[in-house]
Amino acid sequence: MINLQPDDLQKRVFSGIQPTGNLHLGNYLGAIKNWVNLQNEISSIFSIVDLHAITVPQEPLKLKSSTHEVAAAIIASGIDTNKSILFNQSSVKEHSELAWIFNCVCRIGWLNRMTQFKEKAGKNRENSSVGLYGYPVLMAADILLYKSTHVPVGDDQKQHIELARDIAVSFNNMFTSENEVDFFTPPEPQIIGEATRVMSLKDGTKKMSKSDPSFASRINLTDSKEEISNKIRKAKTDSYPLPETIEELKERPEAHNLISIYSSLSDQTLQEALNEFSGKGFSHFKPKLVDLAVETLNPISCEMRNLLKDTREIDKILKNGKIKAREIAEPVLKDVKNLVGFVN
Ligand code: AMP
Ligand code: TRP
Repeated sequence: MINLQPDDLQKRVFSGIQPTGNLHLGNYLGAIKNWVNLQNEISSIFSIVDLHAITVPQEPLKLKSSTHEVAAAIIASGIDTNKSILFNQSSVKEHSELAWIFNCVCRIGWLNRMTQFKEKAGKNRENSSVGLYGYPVLMAADILLYKSTHVPVGDDQKQHIELARDIAVSFNNMFTSENEVDFFTPPEPQIIGEATRVMSLKDGTKKMSKSDPSFASRINLTDSKEEISNKIRKAKTDSYPLPETIEELKERPEAHNLISIYSSLSDQTLQEALNEFSGKGFSHFKPKLVDLAVETLNPISCEMRNLLKDTREIDKILKNGKIKAREIAEPVLKDVKNLVGFVN
């Protein structure tokens, strides 16, 4: 359940997802499912962040088809494009412009703390793109360009949103005087539900990820019933019955992950899901999880296939989203430029 205050109608949701590889259950439970719920409560903007995608090399044709696929997945999951704005990031040039201004606000020391850059760059740091390093600055621009207040994401993005908050505060300090209202409101991360960090099906200590070479480690939104069933049946577990308490569960990463997935898919708390299965073995639990996962994901993948039959229709939706996004972005950037001292 999402708990919002009465004044939340004036607030704005922004979130993004990269058009890279197959979307998986982590993307769905950690992000998209919450977007669908939030769009009914707050005006929402969702972006397919292609500028973020090119921080690592992308094959141009694949980038285009992934953009269509991710748009289809978002719509098939329940984002209503008559109500919410959906567009691809590179089509709104204001993102890049604001990112440059924020590059001059953000300090190198702040970026040096970003754990995702360290993970992604690994030993190849010197050879990473400057874009990969500056990625969180662009993310701050995405959010603040629309003066967004709520940012629904998975747990792995929390640090980036904290950086966006720091950039907002720093911008206010640099460019708004004491007796003026702050220009940017620091955005709040919305890390909602019982599956904010879905783990690999092969290793309960590793995040489920698009880039994991093991196909069996993740459930893709496009997987068939058989694939979902096989992956869950073969998912790593231990040999004990499921415990009664969350404390005991937390000591067993694989069991914790599967129960978290079940509770999120069934909109129950972790404890409620545990109550249903405590004392039972995985041979009892896994078929129930398979049924629930298939029941949730199968309609999404069917609808995705349908939508992808006509990519021109998807292009139309994205173009319409771009127009609506720019209507909000343009005046905000104009004010920013004015505050910074640019002659407009
Ligand atoms: P990305 O695939 O990196 O563009 O992520 C898109 C959204 O999915 C972000 O909000 C992430 O935090 C979320 N996400 C990605 N992987 C996971 C995961 N394993 N568990 C929960 N959320 C995730
Ligand atoms: N960095 C996010 C990810 O990899 C995607 C993203 C880009 C995003 N811009 C954003 C998420 C703005 C929320 C808000 O998952």
